[in-house]
Amino acid sequence: VTIDWDVTQAEKAGYEHFMIKEINEQPKALADTLFPRIHDGKIDLTDAGFSDDMIEGIRKIYIVACGTASYAAQVGKYVIERLARVSVEVDAGSEFRYRNPVLEPDMLVIVISQSGETADTIAALREAKKRGLKVIAITNVVGSTLSREADAVFYTRAGMEIAVASTKAYITQLLALYMIAMEVGRIKGKLADEEYARLLKELERVPELSKEPMEKKKDLQKLASQRYMDQHAFYIGRGLDYAVAMEGTMKIKEVSYIHAEAFSAGELKHGTIALIEKNTLVVALATQADLLEKMMSNIKEVKARGGYVFAIVQERDAATVADQVDQVFTIPNVEDLFAPMLSVIPLQMLGYYAAVSKGCDVDKPRNLAKSVTVE
Ligand code: G6P
Repeated sequence: VTIDWDVTQAEKAGYEHFMIKEINEQPKALADTLFPRIHDGKIDLTDAGFSDDMIEGIRKIYIVACGTASYAAQVGKYVIERLARVSVEVDAGSEFRYRNPVLEPDMLVIVISQSGETADTIAALREAKKRGLKVIAITNVVGSTLSREADAVFYTRAGMEIAVASTKAYITQLLALYMIAMEVGRIKGKLADEEYARLLKELERVPELSKEPMEKKKDLQKLASQRYMDQHAFYIGRGLDYAVAMEGTMKIKEVSYIHAEAFSAGELKHGTIALIEKNTLVVALATQADLLEKMMSNIKEVKARGGYVFAIVQERDAATVADQVDQVFTIPNVEDLFAPMLSVIPLQMLGYYAAVSKGCDVDKPRNLAKSVTVE
């Protein structure tokens, strides 16, 4: 008896592509990144270079990254500013290096890179170090150039990511930034002990909750099978939802080649709404209670032009939203601040299933490489 043994197939563990395998590995990636760093009810970031003294001295944070990692940074900006009241600037590696940014000694630079080998991000790290700043790297690859050159490293524990389109690395980058935001907030006295404890308890629920979107894959497969020939799509949201929308459009662009743009929902009316026609796909993220009413009026603007609205909301809001949109996808109820780690999953799956419907080379999209080592 001979058995045809295909190593790649074996590594895919029964999944059709690495991308969907890696999407399904996210609950584990989150758990592996989170739980080993929690000690006695506190997040322990000492090995990642965060000490009380160092945190107290931070006046401003720069986060520099490329591609998907830069969209994680957009969520990080929002969360760090909210919980730690430290102002955060996000920059692309290729921009930071060449625009002579205003850098002061009490600024911290955080670079994010799945591979730790992206040339633009490495160049930014070197520039920041040359100018005397402390640089902390968030990376997934032990021993990577970034990990060797940074002053300290926060390792995401997503495991090896093979698909070019990042999924489980992105979600652990978000988690890393949440953990940093909470610690900086706590040490700086911006986050009261009870609030910190409440948030940590909520955060510990996220890995388990993140299994739920995968169970509703049929809804996303169906939408993808109806939409894979679309030329354009718009993703809208406010605040954190806007940051997640950016990553959502990246996923559908990378693997299914559908042109998608993310807009802060309030900005849509200032020009871009001219592009909304009958049946244009608009993915509306509305996971934040304090912004729900405003989102609903933006959704109405889209509906009035005949757009097709696919809304992503928390379960608690499904009934409120259902009759005002074309389709609702619910994520489990969660602390609003942490919703990005759940709402990004249906967006990844929508990108994936659209690419599958279209017959694209999902794991190796045209023109893309897993990491770009030239500037
Ligand atoms: C490439 C990939 C992207 C990725 C970016 C940054 O352009 O195609 O998917 O987000 O590099 O990669 P990094 O390894 O630095 O996170």
